[in-house]
Amino acid sequence: MRGMKRGLFITFEGPEKSGKSTQAGLLSGYLKGLGFKTIFVREPGSTGIGEKIRGILLDIKHTEMSEMTEMFLYMAARAQLVSEVITPALKKGYIVLCDRFLDSTLAYQGYGCGLDKDVIIKAGRWATSGLEPDLTLLLDFWASSANLKNHKSPDRIEMRPSAFHQKVRRGYFQLAKKQPRRIKVVQVERTKEQTQAKIREIVSTCLLKISSAKTAPSRY
Ligand code: TMP
Repeated sequence: MRGMKRGLFITFEGPEKSGKSTQAGLLSGYLKGLGFKTIFVREPGSTGIGEKIRGILLDIKHTEMSEMTEMFLYMAARAQLVSEVITPALKKGYIVLCDRFLDSTLAYQGYGCGLDKDVIIKAGRWATSGLEPDLTLLLDFWASSANLKNHKSPDRIEMRPSAFHQKVRRGYFQLAKKQPRRIKVVQVERTKEQTQAKIREIVSTCLLKISSAKTAPSRY
């Protein structure tokens, strides 16, 4: 898969309320301003089917959902997003920014729920046809469970106890330790502009590295 694509695949990861979507949106505007063909998608979602699956996954009424069902639903939404949007865009030379990807399933359903991580990796490879991010920005921020539950309408995952979210955060650190070349930890700063500056520095270095290669992403 890697050899087939010409674009660049960047994912954003992190615990709840780490500001991933805001940062990905800011980066998308910046890259478009530089002339790069860029799209920004989110998981689960960004396809008709994926958004419906997102509704099922996050609905607080679904208290009976098993952890296994949850894991496969995230994978199903991912499989659809990869085949319908991400792979075609990468083939056209786009920079694809994705808010969460397989690392989220490892962190939440693997480290958080305790499902077998090797099974998640195998299912993930199958769902994505082996597509891996070129770069992952892991935003580190800790929102206490009380804060999560107190905000306007917490979803089914945000409702989980603090211990679960702690395990997710620790899981992310484990993943970053295992793959330091791909996963870059970005400490969330006091302002979104300061955090964005750090992100742009990392992405610029990544773009510089590949700019001379034939696989560099396309500009308009
Ligand atoms: P979001 O709020 O960042 O859009 O993500 C939706 C929720 O789904 C969030 O609580 C994290 C959770 N999630 C998982 O538990 N596993 C996954 O594989 C993904 C992609 C998200």
